[in-house]
Amino acid sequence: MSLVAFRNVEKTYASRSGRPYTAIRGFDLDLAAGEFFCLLGTSGCGKTTVLNMLAGFEHPSGGTMTVGGRPVRGPGRDRGVVFQGNDSLYDWLTALENIALGPRLSGLPAAERRARANHYLSLVGLAQQGGKYPSELSGGMQQRIQIARALANDPDILLMDEPFGALDAQTRTTLQAELLRIWQATRNCVLFITHDIDEAVTLATRIGVMRAGPASTLKAVIDVDLAPEDRVRTSERFMTVYRQVHALLSDEVSLAARQAH
Ligand SMILES: Nc1ncnc2c1ncn2[C@@H]1O[C@H](COP(=O)(O)OP(=O)(O)O)[C@@H](O)[C@H]1O
Ligand SMILES: [Mg+2]
Repeated sequence: MSLVAFRNVEKTYASRSGRPYTAIRGFDLDLAAGEFFCLLGTSGCGKTTVLNMLAGFEHPSGGTMTVGGRPVRGPGRDRGVVFQGNDSLYDWLTALENIALGPRLSGLPAAERRARANHYLSLVGLAQQGGKYPSELSGGMQQRIQIARALANDPDILLMDEPFGALDAQTRTTLQAELLRIWQATRNCVLFITHDIDEAVTLATRIGVMRAGPASTLKAVIDVDLAPEDRVRTSERFMTVYRQVHALLSDEVSLAARQAH
């Protein structure tokens, strides 16, 4: 049985102009435990909509969505979310306190939650920075804290919506490598959203390419069977996957551009 199952899911937004907009329709997706799934698509195709529904922030207008066989009814600790921006950390809590908050809310005793928070702080490479406040940390460090905070709840699934999108290229490359290392250690199921093909081929075990909206679905799913040493642009194997994904995506980019005019 898959860990996550979307079946014929639809999301229609009511809009202020009164004309509803169907972002997703007939959307099917299965995620297995331990896989790193990158959802790739053009801007506005509905990636965030898919993630927000799985996170429990948005309710589908139709179809079913289950985690571990149970319907998703709202947010839960089994799904940890990492957002793109840097405004989701609590700025009145230190880095360590941010990470320990989930375990605190779930009633873990103080000593245990401190130990757990320190463990994840080390895992994201910030063992020395726990006493700092979010505003005292760089964008890259803040994203590491967000990842540690999500992991501290011991989620089955990590949901990441363009988490490195706002970072400079160098920090982004570093964090991609870090995330791979962390994923190899934790083996969470990851749903990672990006519009960047390089990022998807660097990280994913599978890549799902979405169609341009409206009423978007998955256009294709590609297995990415690359060894760690091939997860670089200089590898011919990397470029083969890159070109395959690029071909799938480029039609959708021109479609989206035509619709915008
Ligand atoms: N709350 C909302 N109300 C109305 N339309 C929305 C809302 N959220 C998203 N949309 C529309 O749904 C489509 C998909 O949005 P989104 O999932 O954010 O795309 P992506 O993350 O792929 O850029 C877009 O056309 C967007 O304008
Ligand atoms: Mg988005």
